[in-house]
Amino acid sequence: MIGADVENVELKALVEVSRVLTSSFDLEVNLNAVMKCLGEILDMQRGCVYLIEDDHLRIVAAYGLKEEEIRRGKYRIGEGIVGSVIASQRPMFIPNIGSEPRFLNRTGARPRKEGISFLCVPIMHNKEVLGVVSVDRIYAPESGDVDDDLRVLSVVATLIAQFVTLWKIYTEADRERRNLRIALQERYSIPNLIGESERFQAVLKTVTRVAATDATVLLLGESGTGKELIARTIHHHSERRKGPFVPVNCAALPDNLIELELFGAERGAFTGATERRIGRFERANGGTIFLDEIGELSVAVQVKLLRVLQERTFERLGSSESLKTDVRIIAATNRNLEEEVKKGNFREDLYWRLNVVSIRLPPLRERKEDIPLLVNYFLRKFNKKYRKNVSISDEIMRSFIDYSWPGNIRELANVLERLVIMSETDRISELDEDLLFMGGIKGRPLTPEGALLTELQELEKERILRALRKNNFIQARAARDLGLTLRQLGYRIKKYGIRIDS
Ligand SMILES: Nc1ncnc2c1ncn2[C@@H]1O[C@H](COP(=O)(O)OP(=O)(O)OP(=O)(O)O)[C@@H](O)[C@H]1O
Ligand SMILES: [Mg+2]
Repeated sequence: MIGADVENVELKALVEVSRVLTSSFDLEVNLNAVMKCLGEILDMQRGCVYLIEDDHLRIVAAYGLKEEEIRRGKYRIGEGIVGSVIASQRPMFIPNIGSEPRFLNRTGARPRKEGISFLCVPIMHNKEVLGVVSVDRIYAPESGDVDDDLRVLSVVATLIAQFVTLWKIYTEADRERRNLRIALQERYSIPNLIGESERFQAVLKTVTRVAATDATVLLLGESGTGKELIARTIHHHSERRKGPFVPVNCAALPDNLIELELFGAERGAFTGATERRIGRFERANGGTIFLDEIGELSVAVQVKLLRVLQERTFERLGSSESLKTDVRIIAATNRNLEEEVKKGNFREDLYWRLNVVSIRLPPLRERKEDIPLLVNYFLRKFNKKYRKNVSISDEIMRSFIDYSWPGNIRELANVLERLVIMSETDRISELDEDLLFMGGIKGRPLTPEGALLTELQELEKERILRALRKNNFIQARAARDLGLTLRQLGYRIKKYGIRIDS
């Protein structure tokens, strides 16, 4: 080939090379296509693209080499001809590799070196060497000019350099994007479940994972930490969301009634049972049953419950027919069940059956960083509900953060609801005494310590005593008068050492 012919072939090769270089985002696919172009159009026997990776050179694309040969072709930078091209950053031509001691033949691809010439060109971008392109060619007299080949190879190396640089930017950006996406996904967020603290994020993570399964869940945590809310959330994020969510308060009913409530009864099972009664387990079929306050169940009922957990079957009272139930079980308690097991109040076998996945809800005082979030969440909620626009000063926010919130989120929600209802101005910067007597928590001061606390506690104790006396020490009635739940009242009776038999 001579003159115009040579130039034609070169141009064709270069156009083709630039086309294949942008044909995909896959480095090796594109570079292999480039080498194939060179091999076919420029009539070269073998070719390789080496790129610098850490402290060595790797063959990322080759033409005319076998897999095995490619794998062997790993150079440490500075070795052999390829190494010296990188060091000198200049092209090199070895007319006869047979007489060149620096030719290491790492790939083992050239059994006979005689007559083969070796061309090697650095791949440079902004004065930085990214790698080299090398080519073997057998020069016959009519083969053309080495200078022509070197020129073409240099242009190809420039094109490769541009592509490799773009590819590096692209993969780096892609990796970053992927990491960001993962990081975003990892921040668990469930509407209505407020909390960004590490402790609460761990809860959300478990909730998200466990919701996708049918595993029994045991929710542990003090009063007002969100056990019921979490139970509902798990149900609504599970495959059973279309089925019923059936809550049962195990503390609300005495033994015989709780059995009736859970398992139902056949007509005539007891006097007065004029109709068949469907129990909660039957009603929860296809859905989730939430056994709240499970620590309050008597041992007798625990035995029956254990059987449902083990076999998913039960009988209605007064019937021997076994019924199958397809329910997911979520249980909750604010008791320390391990302690109860030790004391013999809670069956160990039932405990282990329930404790497949347990989620411990942290008390609010152990995730104080969530308090501002929760305060703003409830302010928004109650402002909307009561069509108001109440906000609080930083100082009040600080006292909210300082406070220990023994009633946890329920207490916080109550305080804020009352605050929104009672406030006459939009901006609250001072807590007037009335607001300290919060709905449901009457008399619990917001200052954690000091005289005010004692004074308010005295007041609370006094009010409780009055309500109890008025209601003949029937706690349920006194609690209703005070706007407390039975358990909240029980807690206070214990706290103030009030003797019920007095
Ligand atoms: N993470 C949370 N984000 C927003 N609101 C919450 C959160 N946790 C709980 N709440 C709210 O706090 C109140 C108390 O929650 P919940 O009734 O689930 O608590 P609990 O643990 O079941 O309490 P108890 O043991 O007294 O029955 C509810 O109004 C609930 O909506
Ligand atoms: Mg509850």
